[in-house]
This record gives sequence, structure tokens and C-alpha cells, in this order.
Amino acid sequence: MNLIFLGPPGAGKGTHAVRLSQQLGIPQISTGDMLRSHVREQTDLGIEAKKYMDAGELVPDDVIIGMVKMRLQDADCKNGYIFDGFPRTVAQAEALDAFADIDAVLNLIVSDEVIIDRLSGRRVCPQCNGTFHLRYLENKELCPVCGNKLVQRKDDLPETVLNRLDVYRRQTQPLIAYYDQKGLLRNADGEGSVDDNYNGVLQALDIQ
Ligand code: AP5
Repeated sequence: MNLIFLGPPGAGKGTHAVRLSQQLGIPQISTGDMLRSHVREQTDLGIEAKKYMDAGELVPDDVIIGMVKMRLQDADCKNGYIFDGFPRTVAQAEALDAFADIDAVLNLIVSDEVIIDRLSGRRVCPQCNGTFHLRYLENKELCPVCGNKLVQRKDDLPETVLNRLDVYRRQTQPLIAYYDQKGLLRNADGEGSVDDNYNGVLQALDIQ
């Protein structure tokens, strides 16, 4: 099964894509995680991408398309995959049409108020990649899974979150109509509890 998870920043794409990837035994391909790993390793691509990411802007299409094309050649993608955060522009979606067959596109629906609350309270663990919200952390400083120091993503600072929402509306939202016209779009609520939302995701995708 080849899937795309679509939705604004903070909609829960990563949260649900990781869980579904474990359930189906297929990889979650997050272009955001791939870029952050390039930034950490200070590759040429990472140094170029960092300035766009820190400002909440999209990294240029040709960089992203090349990176995804290479990733799909890995052996673990041969039985399916879940794109998380890709495609993000109509140009990326058109490029993808030329090298992949997509079965369904899941669109998570969440209001701006919920997104701002989620992202301003998000803390991540650079060691185990865990994602948490301050509200649910007993110890606000340390990862409850591995004990490493938690950090705030630079692009989760309030002014950058507002820009990411604006970029989403202008550049990514048109993909909803793009995939609806192809008959691939499935909508799911992204505002309830994580478990309720995940059940909605399974229902929307007809997965038992
Ligand atoms: P990326 O990492 O993809 O960021 P994003 O799309 O903005 O997505 P997020 O990771 O912020 O949100 P999410 O929907 O995955 O939500 P999550 O599950 O974490 O991209 C970062 C940057 O990289 C971009 O700005 C761009 O510069 C660049 N980039 C990446 N891909 C690109 C591309 N294709 N083209 C060009 N540039 C690209 O959840 C968020 C929080 O909410 C978490 O704390 C979580 O615990 C919590 N949460 C989730 N669901 C629930 C729930 N139901 N109830 C309560 N809390 C919840």
C-alpha cells in the first residue's frame, strides 16, 4: 500500500504515520526527518535546507524530489510506504505521479487554534526521535523514553509557526483538490485524542 499523509503542520501526520507504519510493516518516509538528519550531519543538502526550514519556508522542489526518488529505491519500500510531509506542492505531486503509484491520500483536518497549541508545546528528543507535549510531561526537561535532554524545534517558535501555516495554505492546501480530482482523497478528524484520531485514520483508509 502506497500512502500519502497530508495536513497542516502539527496535524498529527508524523504521530499517526509512525503508528501505521509499525502496524503495516512498511516504512514511514518523512521528508522533514530526512532533512533534519542532513542538517545534523551538516551535509551540503542540510546546510542549504536549514535556512528554509528555520524560517518555516519550503525547501526547493528539485532538492526534495531528488531525495525522495533515491529513498524509494531502498529495499524496504518494495511492499509499500507512507509519505509524511511529501508532496507539499503541486510540482512535487506532479513529479511523484511520474515515478510512483499512490493508493490513497489521507487528509487530517485540524483548526489553527489546535495547531498553535500543539506546536508551541511540542518538545522532541534528538536521541530517540520521540515527540511529546509539555502538558503531558511530568519532567519537562528530560525524555520519558530515553532520558536525553528534550529540545524545542526551531520552527516551532510562535512567529515561525504562523509562517508555516501561511505557507501550508498557499502551497500545500491546493493538493487537497488535486488528489480529490483523482479520487484518492480520504478525510479524517485530527482534533480528538490520539487514539480516537488513529481509529478514524484506519476507518478512512479501510484498514482493519
Ligand atoms: P515537517 O517535519 O514535515 O513538519 P510539518 O509538516 O510542519 O509537520 P510537523 O512535524 O510539524 O507536524 P505533524 O503533522 O507531523 O504532527 P506531529 O505528529 O508531530 O517539515 C519541517 C520543514 O522541513 C518544513 O517546514 C520545510 O521547511 C521542510 N520540508 C519538509 N518536507 C518538505 C517538502 N516535501 N517540501 C519542501 N520542504 C519540506 O504532531 C504535532 C504535536 O501534536 C506532537 O507534539 C504530538 O504529540 C501532538 N499530537 C499529534 N496528534 C495529536 C492528537 N490527536 N491529540 C493531541 N496531541 C497530538
